[in-house]
Amino acid sequence: MTEPFKNETSVQKENPVNHTNEPAKKGTKKELQFGAQNDTQNETHQNQNETHHDAEPILKIEGLSIVYDHIPAVKQLDLTVKKGEIVALIGANGAGKTSTLRCISGIVKAKSGRIVYEGQEITNMEPHRIVKLGISHVPEGRGMFADLTVLDNLRIGAYLRKDRAEIRKDQEKMFRLFPRLEERKSQLAGTLSGGEQQMLAIARALMARPKLLLLDEPSMGLAPMLVQEIFKAIREINESGVSVLVVEQNTRMALALANRGYVLESGEVILQGNSSELKERLDPFTLQIR
Ligand SMILES: Nc1ncnc2c1ncn2[C@@H]1O[C@H](COP(=O)(O)OP(=O)(O)OP(=O)(O)O)[C@@H](O)[C@H]1O
Ligand SMILES: [Mg+2]
Repeated sequence: MTEPFKNETSVQKENPVNHTNEPAKKGTKKELQFGAQNDTQNETHQNQNETHHDAEPILKIEGLSIVYDHIPAVKQLDLTVKKGEIVALIGANGAGKTSTLRCISGIVKAKSGRIVYEGQEITNMEPHRIVKLGISHVPEGRGMFADLTVLDNLRIGAYLRKDRAEIRKDQEKMFRLFPRLEERKSQLAGTLSGGEQQMLAIARALMARPKLLLLDEPSMGLAPMLVQEIFKAIREINESGVSVLVVEQNTRMALALANRGYVLESGEVILQGNSSELKERLDPFTLQIR
């Protein structure tokens, strides 16, 4: 096993938000603003488009261990997402990626360790309280209400909100982000294609106006074209001021999207660093360290 990169904040030459090295699109942020951010936060995010080095953590996990029936799934995990960042959590089947996200959301209990969100400890808090604080989770397998329409699924995403007019505005934003969903707003979610369901799952999570979005394998089962479309949307969401922690098995896509990444193996971080470092150090197919 190789030592993880020690320097999490090593300099990134690329645009940390848009890893295609193109300048971030002007105007996107204003158009999409999902509403969780006030003006000050957006201002901060804009500055961080240049660099996230000095950004405060939005999420800080320290020494997290998760155990199922005496079998450890995650061991002493340390992970940070800074405000404005996209961070990828990469690893093979059974590495503990989903467990980590579920624990952040309060669905799975931590055995030990701490999860701190915006300076507040949220370890083992009730899931609905965590959503209310601004963390939304797009689960593995998408978790749609198959017998409800697209529109009703979106409304469920806003179930903790009371601001009807704002909810309606956010619905329109979701349709701008994913025009396919508007065409299908009266269709039952269970009859959507896999890619459309992924779009709906992301849109539903955004309806809670999160500041931190947790995405569990958004590319799973999708054709390459659709993966591109979903990842472009994730980038736009991030540019609107939402920090993102994304679990992926599609290592190449994940590292093209993310600023930094962590590689999990049997519940332990075996490698971490910024995306360009990870691209060099990690074989994208075997997930072995070179
Ligand atoms: N509810 C559960 N009860 C018992 N064991 C579980 C439970 N959930 C997960 N595990 C085990 O914990 C380990 C980590 O699972 P997890 O789902 O977190 O992995 P993962 O990295 O998301 O894998 P994949 O890429 O296949 O989705 C696995 O060995 C899994 O069998
Ligand atoms: Mg998983």
